[in-house]
Amino acid sequence: MRILVTGGCGFIGSALVLHLVNDLGHEVCTLDAMTYAANPISLAPLADNPRHRLVEADICDHAAVQKAFADFKPQAVMHLAAESHVDRSITDPGAFVRTNAIGTQTMLDGARGHYESLPEADKKTFRFLHVSTDEVYGSLPPGAFFTEDSRYDPRSPYSASKAASDHLARAWHETYGLPVLVTNCSNNYGPRHFPEKLIPLMILNALEGKKLPVYGDGQNERDWIHVEDHAKGLVAVLERGRVGQTYLLGGRAVRNNLAVVKALCAAFDRLRPGSAPHEQLISFVADRPGHDRRYAIDCTKAETELGWRPQKTFEQALEETVAWYLDNESWWRPIREGRYKGERLGLNG
Ligand SMILES: NC(=O)c1ccc[n+]([C@@H]2O[C@H](COP(=O)([O-])OP(=O)(O)OC[C@H]3O[C@@H](n4cnc5c(N)ncnc54)[C@H](O)[C@@H]3O)[C@@H](O)[C@H]2O)c1
Repeated sequence: MRILVTGGCGFIGSALVLHLVNDLGHEVCTLDAMTYAANPISLAPLADNPRHRLVEADICDHAAVQKAFADFKPQAVMHLAAESHVDRSITDPGAFVRTNAIGTQTMLDGARGHYESLPEADKKTFRFLHVSTDEVYGSLPPGAFFTEDSRYDPRSPYSASKAASDHLARAWHETYGLPVLVTNCSNNYGPRHFPEKLIPLMILNALEGKKLPVYGDGQNERDWIHVEDHAKGLVAVLERGRVGQTYLLGGRAVRNNLAVVKALCAAFDRLRPGSAPHEQLISFVADRPGHDRRYAIDCTKAETELGWRPQKTFEQALEETVAWYLDNESWWRPIREGRYKGERLGLNG
């Protein structure tokens, strides 16, 4: 199948593209603007692969998007390109509205024009999978879980811009008949994760013997899913999801931030016993403004309808992730010494 993947040089996009091309034999066109969050090395294993091509373009660029559809003639779109970091959305919300809302509209328009030009038989199988986040549902009370029926309640500029993109995707289905599917996923972790997010930032700080800055009291809870489980979930939704439906994907691994950092320290103690105990590096810092307390996913619908379920065990896969960063310094060193050195982002005022 020919699949157009946006944001394929980012964290989840690269795991997905590698899975689609290497494991499943699909033909993929990656459309990516190569923002600070992209790492071209992530797709280097596909450099000479005839089943992959990279188009460097902005999803807000209508002409470039139209050209990508006309040239590649995709049978499906998996739309992941986004500004993705909550802390950055606090200091620069405009970039999030532009890429996440306007960019999604541009992709939907491009897909609609392409879809309407297809023969009837191809229309039946065409899909537009819009990839989103559980953060659109806001903050949960203790012990509660999001389902597909949860009410939208975005509270950060990031989650508000993603909520807008979800509504646009559904509107293009209802209004224009575009065969749209929407997924909302929990927090991902794994290889090739830009080191501004909690887990890779803590890994690189621990590696360098620097402080491990935990926001607030460290009790904010997230549901952690390994990026490869997410990629497989997206494929399951694309292949077997019902058009017009939403599927929540989660890792069934709810942990608070402090527990995550302590698990990372335990992994470091095993992999780098010389500098143990790493827990002594933990330091509590000012909380994120408007920091949502709890996200957790009930992914029963995806499990029962699609036969997908997350396979990885959190603590074990976390240790594998630490080992990946230890083994792949060439992936992160240029970032850490260049465009992002680990400084605090998103403090209001
Ligand atoms: N990371 C998570 O835990 C998580 C969880 C749930 C959902 N999501 C969603 O999954 C998607 C991918 O997230 P990620 O963590 O891989 O993000 P990321 O920041 O690692 O990568 C985003 C990619 O999109 C590209 N991009 C950004 N703006 C663009 C534009 N205007 N035009 C074209 N490309 C552009 C970047 O260059 C980068 O390669 C996003 O839509 C995000 O909202 C992420």
